[in-house]
Amino acid sequence: MTLNERLAAYSKLTEQKLLEYIQPKEDKGQAVIFEACRYSAMAGGKRLRPALVLEFCRLSGGDIQAALPFACALEMIHTYSLIHDDLPCMDNDDLRRGKPTNHKVYGEATAVLAGDGLLNLAFETASDPENTTLISAETQLKAIRVLSRASGMEGMIGGQVLDMQAEETQISLEQLKTLQELKTGALIGAAAQLGCLIGGASEEQTQAALEYARCIGLAFQIQDDILDIEGDAETFGKPIGSDAENGKSTYPSLLGLKRCHALVHELSEQAANALTPFADAGMLPELARSLADRKN
Ligand code: IPE
Ligand code: IPE
Ligand code: MG
Ligand code: MG
Ligand code: MG
Repeated sequence: MTLNERLAAYSKLTEQKLLEYIQPKEDKGQAVIFEACRYSAMAGGKRLRPALVLEFCRLSGGDIQAALPFACALEMIHTYSLIHDDLPCMDNDDLRRGKPTNHKVYGEATAVLAGDGLLNLAFETASDPENTTLISAETQLKAIRVLSRASGMEGMIGGQVLDMQAEETQISLEQLKTLQELKTGALIGAAAQLGCLIGGASEEQTQAALEYARCIGLAFQIQDDILDIEGDAETFGKPIGSDAENGKSTYPSLLGLKRCHALVHELSEQAANALTPFADAGMLPELARSLADRKN
């Protein structure tokens, strides 16, 4: 299977399940909030995090069906973070995944609630006994803890706070690294960790997976910052120039574009080489390298 075929297969599995999960069990007149959640969750997106969960699970010798509810839960949390990130009180952006942002379509109040709704649904999904017949209760609990820590104040939310604090100020490279590790790195790290946990990876494999995730997470954010300058809005699916407009501290603002391009390639290569404890690294080395050239 080629990289694109495998990514497409993982996307399809994830999207089918997401659609199933984001439905009201009983419509008491609040169906619009489900519609708002589906609008953002089904708007496309690369589904990178679910793909990492599923591929690490497979390569650790696990059944990807066991990992699928957790891959979806993580994508719900990621989508909620994007809905809130686009709000006028944060990055104030109008375009996401090639479509008007959630608050542009449903209004700010519903967008806040759609984000909250997806966050809660993620944990409802991860803790539902019906979704976890293929793993032990202990593994399920560990997975829920990985998800909650990565998305919380010592993970993604913490990173978003640092990101806002760093607006219109000059921060050091070390501070920017910490900001990125939390803002983007935490959820990408959680994807690798969830796949390893559910697949039954060894400690050595899990550490290698985390190192891979650290490298691609950093490369991913640097490339995102590059595309915010050099990208094409239609292909990127997001507005260009948002970071400059908001006075964000980004890798290009600190290091310049040339150094950033080189760094993305170095980190992708480093990621591709981190997986020696896995007998088969599957699509992961090629995925890491492809992220260095991504345009969306
Ligand atoms: C966007 O993430 C936010 C960042 C961490 C840079 P993605 O680039 O994975 O967004 P989607 O899911 O493909 O829309
Ligand atoms: C935000 O980073 C990542 C999140 C935790 C939501 P950005 O603000 O750079 O993400 P984009 O560029 O809007 O997707
Ligand atoms: Mg932001
Ligand atoms: Mg943003
Ligand atoms: Mg960005």
